Amino acid sequence: PGGGRKTSVVVNGEANTEDTRQKALILFGTQTGTAERFSKQLKSELAARYGDGNRYEVLDMEEFKAEELHKEKLVFFMMATYGDGEPTDNAADFYGWLVKASSDADKGIGNGKLLEGVSFGVFGLGNKQYEHFCAVGKRVHKALVNLGANALVHRGDGDDDEDIEADFESWRTELYAALDKSDVLAKSSAGDPGVTQIVAAAETVASYQVEILTGADAAGAEDVTTDAPVSGNGTSIHSPFLARISALRELHTPQSDRSCVHVELDVSGSDIAYEAGDHVGIMPENGREVVERAAAALGYPQETVFRLRVPEGNPQMMAQPFAGGAITLRAALARYADLLSPVSKPALQALSAFANGEDAARLHWLLSPEGAAEYKAWHQQSRCLLEVLEEFPNIKPPLGAFFGSIMQRLQTRFYSISSSPLQHPKSIHVTCAVVLETTVTGRVHEGIASYFLKQKAPGARVPVFVRHSSFRLPRDPAAPIIMVGPGTGLAPFRGFLQERAALIAKGTKLGPAYLFFGCRKRAQDYIYQEELEAFARDGTLTKLFVAFSRDGTIKDYVQHHMAREADLIAPVLRDDGPGYFYVCGDAKHMAKDVARTAVAIVEKAEGVSTGQAEAILKRMSDAGRIQKDVW
Ligand code: 2AM
Repeated sequence: PGGGRKTSVVVNGEANTEDTRQKALILFGTQTGTAERFSKQLKSELAARYGDGNRYEVLDMEEFKAEELHKEKLVFFMMATYGDGEPTDNAADFYGWLVKASSDADKGIGNGKLLEGVSFGVFGLGNKQYEHFCAVGKRVHKALVNLGANALVHRGDGDDDEDIEADFESWRTELYAALDKSDVLAKSSAGDPGVTQIVAAAETVASYQVEILTGADAAGAEDVTTDAPVSGNGTSIHSPFLARISALRELHTPQSDRSCVHVELDVSGSDIAYEAGDHVGIMPENGREVVERAAAALGYPQETVFRLRVPEGNPQMMAQPFAGGAITLRAALARYADLLSPVSKPALQALSAFANGEDAARLHWLLSPEGAAEYKAWHQQSRCLLEVLEEFPNIKPPLGAFFGSIMQRLQTRFYSISSSPLQHPKSIHVTCAVVLETTVTGRVHEGIASYFLKQKAPGARVPVFVRHSSFRLPRDPAAPIIMVGPGTGLAPFRGFLQERAALIAKGTKLGPAYLFFGCRKRAQDYIYQEELEAFARDGTLTKLFVAFSRDGTIKDYVQHHMAREADLIAPVLRDDGPGYFYVCGDAKHMAKDVARTAVAIVEKAEGVSTGQAEAILKRMSDAGRIQKDVW
């Protein structure tokens, strides 16, 4: 994807006489949109501080040609870390290129001074609860330095578990101090506007131009009742396929107070192909009630048909996916607006620009440094955009500002596919835990995507595409495998087991397979119990271990079973062995505990130190013999 991009930087002495001022490129690797939002924020501040907004370009990493990085003079990287210390999808190619260029330089193959002349700043986005905090930002920073680039500022590490906005703000403060001291960007004569001002003026809020359409112009507008994003070929995030739900059933028993649904997506009629271990991206929609409330809060009938245009003076403002085409407000809110996630500070800042009187005073107080403690308490009640709009009924932002600066884009959700194409070539199975929690405000928060799926009736259609992963069964079918997957972490292993059953039926000789599954109570959330026990009986699974964490008086977890089965696991975790070890599920607690248990098993079995055991497991990981699919 991507291709080149237009650049008017002075390249190899080809002087561009029209514009010799230093340009800056802001590249983002984003999964949920935060790095993209930060990029735009950085751009608008650079423009305010150093003048001439057209000098700064925000670009999706997917659109950037890595081999041309050495031609740039000033580049900022907003790099999110995803899953098990991995780059986001849109940054994967760039990241792969950079890491390779750096290691080639170490080996003396490549040019160790390739990026001499490039100045840069890296801000990483991550979450300290995960094992590989900001791994991608760290790696990118290191590789850039290794290739001779000049770090203008310390690497920033943003922790989403604490206060990533504050981390970003202190990094920007440091960056501006460095830029002020250097002559990389000439300072604007307008003076020092500081980091983002608390009170935004309405004119400074990035807005689309809005055209309200009526009569014949409004005919054929995208609506929720039309099956707009449909395609059968070249299916991707940019052009999903409308899959038909062919089966949907609850997996928990009625005694359970939680819900987990099994969904089968029929992709026949598309060119979608998948492998066991891949992910499926599902583009959810907000429910009818949520959309109605949001339209009412904005003060427009839901049937309003409009069209967004990227404003002329701001060509780099990124287009919404529906910009340019006619769309009903109902569809724009349902398909593209994240109305239910906790609201961001910049969104509130933009909203505050349209507030008057007491509303303005209240928002400005919450956003001021003095109001920080109150803001924290207020925000902790999981204030989503819809709640904020309803709390301030007199604030009616224009649609152009709402879609341009106030709302965040509704994100695609990814699920580990729980089937194998050898058994279901045109049906993708999903095992989806339904998120349901009551916030402090008393609002019942329903997971957007899981509710979207759960409430569908068989026959309904949902936009999907497949994202290929590297989570794969061993190439050698005789290699022994261990799978650890409590809760919905079971999903890809159900796919693996279906695959093994199909291979066995064809006469392939397979190595042993052990599954460690965990759930709360046997009588409530032992999902796919019959299937798993049947696999254990017919030999698809050599042995099944199930941990019930809430049936007894003490917690019984998958890693406790692993520790008891050390004799079985140790041979698989041997440096020179053929075994594979897989973990899927919660990254914050479970995967860490499982990793620690694996280290302890190797330590004991091999009679080595903790450090040596970790090194063995690291080598296995590098060789693809330990694989994780964690979130
Ligand atoms: P719990 O909710 O009783 O703590 C699937 O979510 C299963 O994983 C549940 O039985 C859950 O137990 C368990 N689980 C929670 N934390 C875990 C951890 N750190 N390691 C392993 N399993 C865990």
